[in-house]
Amino acid sequence: RNAAANRGNIVLVGPMGSGKSHVGRLLAARLGRVFADVDARIEADAGMPIPVIFATEGEAGFRARESRVLAETLAPPGQVVATGGGAVLEAGNRAAMRAAGRVVYLQVEPAEQLRRLAGDTGRPLLDVADRAQRLAELQALREPLYREAADLVFETGTLAPDAVAEALAALL
Ligand code: S3P
Repeated sequence: RNAAANRGNIVLVGPMGSGKSHVGRLLAARLGRVFADVDARIEADAGMPIPVIFATEGEAGFRARESRVLAETLAPPGQVVATGGGAVLEAGNRAAMRAAGRVVYLQVEPAEQLRRLAGDTGRPLLDVADRAQRLAELQALREPLYREAADLVFETGTLAPDAVAEALAALL
């Protein structure tokens, strides 16, 4: 890869449970880059966990925070950036990601995704009786947006996060 590409960010998109944060941290370590997690920054910036932001400001309030923090997070070059599963919903966010570097869509099998998210209480959109159905609905709406944003689609299959990070480090 050329030096210009290496100065940009590597931005991970994909659904909840696709491994964006986990893979992102491992990939950053492999590449000697700074890792930035947009969800964690939203929480630090707001001084509230994500479920409390949803409860007090609604999803719209969360999305406004997300767009602002995403733009701030993408500003420095040379990082690996993990985004939230809904960060691609805004066209402006997708454009900002593409302008900031290479965007990787981490795909995950629904059964594996559900297994990873079992027992999680930090994701308000999964606060429903039928999580499999909710995840399928979200994926149907968002799949085209992940693809639109992405330079590279990576099917994680049954690979462990470190194997995904190893493969991406070789590709990017
Ligand atoms: C969301 C995904 C979450 C977080 C918020 C909303 C979504 O991030 O941003 O709960 O809309 O899919 P992860 O994808 O890291 O779980």
